[in-house]
Amino acid sequence: MSILRCENIHKSYSLGRTELHVLRGIDLTIPRGQFVSIIGNSGSGKSTLLHVLSGLDVPQRGQVHFENQPLFEPEAIRKIPRGRNCDAGEPFSRRWQEKSPDLSGRSAQDVARRPGPRSPSIGNTQTLEPRRNQLLNEAFGFVFQFYHLLPEFDVLENVLLPAMVGHSMAGWLAQRAKIEHRARALLQRVGLQDRLDHRPNELSGGERQRVAIARALMNEPRVLFADEPTGNLDARTGREIFDLLKDLNGAGQTIVIVTHDRDLAAETDVVVQLVDGRVK
Ligand SMILES: Nc1ncnc2c1ncn2[C@@H]1O[C@H](COP(=O)(O)OP(=O)(O)OP(=O)(O)O)[C@@H](O)[C@H]1O
Ligand SMILES: [Mg+2]
Repeated sequence: MSILRCENIHKSYSLGRTELHVLRGIDLTIPRGQFVSIIGNSGSGKSTLLHVLSGLDVPQRGQVHFENQPLFEPEAIRKIPRGRNCDAGEPFSRRWQEKSPDLSGRSAQDVARRPGPRSPSIGNTQTLEPRRNQLLNEAFGFVFQFYHLLPEFDVLENVLLPAMVGHSMAGWLAQRAKIEHRARALLQRVGLQDRLDHRPNELSGGERQRVAIARALMNEPRVLFADEPTGNLDARTGREIFDLLKDLNGAGQTIVIVTHDRDLAAETDVVVQLVDGRVK
């Protein structure tokens, strides 16, 4: 059975008088438990497709079905102004800053007010349809190419964040021990049990990517999306991260990645090649 299916996805950007057609009728079916890689030249629309599949971005035409239910309300597709970038909310790091309860005496809102590295802005989550918002929090995990960890939170806190979203303060306090146990187990799984209290700037690139993967797994996502998870890493570290993803997939995790690395892509179950906005 397919877990994710998209039909006739069109996405374009207005550039003054011209229109840049990035996705031109993409049809794709992703069966549960598969490891799928999306490849293509730079600018071919790989990230755009990943964002649409994961509900981070809205197409102008077409629909994505997750577990046989439409991901986007038809009104959301019609309403999206042509050329506007992702409306689906800034990357999770920013959303967590806004929604997370107090951590070790430091409020997430407080952190959000401080100047610091910002994730690229994708928009405002408050406008999201309820189902898509819920899926983004609960069913999908996303690993961004540049990690998007919160610089003022340590490794354990960064991984805890997705679980905090959606909990009231009372609920969070009641569940904290159990959730923290899971976060520690995930960090052990990615080999970072000795780095729990490091801040992101005290980690190597590969370690940051591992934190990002642990964070994406925190809510037991039904699909894990990763945009060039090995793109910024040396070959050996990239291989380690890829092997970690393969292990996760071996345990049943559905994974969709974007990669430039054809050798790695060849090891996945399905390779989707984008050429001129279409699947080749
Ligand atoms: N907000 C935007 N406004 C206008 N054009 C955009 C916008 N976002 C992306 N594009 C354009 O859409 C095209 C596809 O972008 P996308 O990021 O999906 O490419 P990609 O295949 O992921 O490339 P890369 O391998 O370099 O990451 C590019 O030509 C890009 O310039
Ligand atoms: Mg890209």
